[in-house]
Amino acid sequence: MGAIETIAVRPATAHASRVLIADDQPDVREALRLLLKGEGYEIQAVAAPAELISALETRDFDLVLMDLNYARDTTSGQEGLDLLARIQTMDGALPVVVMTAWGSVELAVEAMRRGAKDFIQKPWENARLLTIIRTQIELRQALRRELRLEAENRLLRSESRPTLIAEAASMRPVLELIARVGPSDANVLLTGEHGTGKEVAARTLHVLSPRASKPMVTVNAGGLSEGIFESELFGHVKGAFTDAKADRLGRFELADGSTLFLDEIANVPMNLQAKLLRVLETGEMERVGSSKTRRVDVRIIAATNADVNAEVTAGRFRQDLLFRLNTIEIHLPPLRDRREDIPLLANHFLRMYAQRYRKGVTGFDTVAMQALCEHPWPGNIRELDHSVERGVLLAQGNQVKASDLGLRAAAPGAAARLEEMSLEEVERFLVQRTLARHDGNVSQAAKALGLSRSGLYRRLQKYGL
Ligand SMILES: Nc1ncnc2c1ncn2[C@@H]1O[C@H](COP(=O)(O)OP(=O)(O)OP(=O)(O)O)[C@@H](O)[C@H]1O
Ligand SMILES: [Mg+2]
Repeated sequence: MGAIETIAVRPATAHASRVLIADDQPDVREALRLLLKGEGYEIQAVAAPAELISALETRDFDLVLMDLNYARDTTSGQEGLDLLARIQTMDGALPVVVMTAWGSVELAVEAMRRGAKDFIQKPWENARLLTIIRTQIELRQALRRELRLEAENRLLRSESRPTLIAEAASMRPVLELIARVGPSDANVLLTGEHGTGKEVAARTLHVLSPRASKPMVTVNAGGLSEGIFESELFGHVKGAFTDAKADRLGRFELADGSTLFLDEIANVPMNLQAKLLRVLETGEMERVGSSKTRRVDVRIIAATNADVNAEVTAGRFRQDLLFRLNTIEIHLPPLRDRREDIPLLANHFLRMYAQRYRKGVTGFDTVAMQALCEHPWPGNIRELDHSVERGVLLAQGNQVKASDLGLRAAAPGAAARLEEMSLEEVERFLVQRTLARHDGNVSQAAKALGLSRSGLYRRLQKYGL
């Protein structure tokens, strides 16, 4: 095992509200700075539009207090209005309060029409200015809390504590790794076939970490189109694209201080792989449509059932990204390699479903349990889960019978998985299945297989069917 990469956990400290002041007159800047500092605000003051933009690009502010008139054109306020528009494309939710010369109310109204939250005329009245600033900052914070709470609630509803059953010998190294790296900040890549418990392992890793007080955030790269996926990950600002009616918090920001579970990682499109790599390397990202850089502190747990190394060789997955993701790699064995766990898992699911469906089912009869233990389980634990659910639903007494489980008996001689069969085995399997489906009617089976009757007969003879 390689060295475990650790990233320091940043505590979420409450900071003083930060106000950005823009005015080309030094005495105005100084007076505002003194006034606001005295009220406990953190201040940055700039003299020109370009400086304001670069300040916004480098830091988060809670409010902008800006003059509308600058040196280039001191009366029309056009430069100030342009600047306002610029700020809004950078961060549509950032409150901007404009300052105008005494008597230019129309200009102030025009600025409000274009999205400024309030205005102040010079010379200003301190008490009024402070009230406006406090109100706007509080409104912004309430909005942010609401956005976040809403999103967190959605996640919490689907969050449940994982049950991880793993007594089989083949699971021992897996458990050991989970226990060892769980509490760290190391990125973990979970591999394994469908239904082997990758998500359960991810939840367990999260629960073991100091990030457990916050919900784990999940993104499934398999189920999303490329366009949606980017804004799902990074969020977007209002107007970033046609459907972006409001600002949206992405999963990375939502997972700040917590764990982000990237499921089906092999499906991330190439151009997003580059963006993903950058966040993992620098902890920095931008919402779609915004040029503002935001910092996030996120631990990544990724999962895939694809062979990522083969994807790298084929040029479909970036090797540098894989190296970032697989600091620790945990492989979950298929259920057929941990058969000792079948009775435990089956009984666990039985109890769960008996309770859910209010059925007095207490166990499996001997034949049913034997069938469970012998089944190949190509769909792994998820398939077992579904079979037991069906068994509980169909059970008539207090025991589940083999027939209740709906296990498809593997064709004699047929291997569990198509890709493990020889061509002849596949042909035999297919002929047998088709014939059975047509109740032994050779003409119909031949038609379904695209063979002549005699062609099918030859094969029946060949395979002794
Ligand atoms: N060790 C375990 N103990 C108890 N239940 C488990 C265990 N592993 C998996 N399960 C259950 O099996 C089902 C499938 O698990 P999970 O969703 O974690 O698999 P997965 O590897 O993420 O599958 P996929 O690749 O299809 O997304 C779930 O219902 C899960 O609760
Ligand atoms: Mg999964």
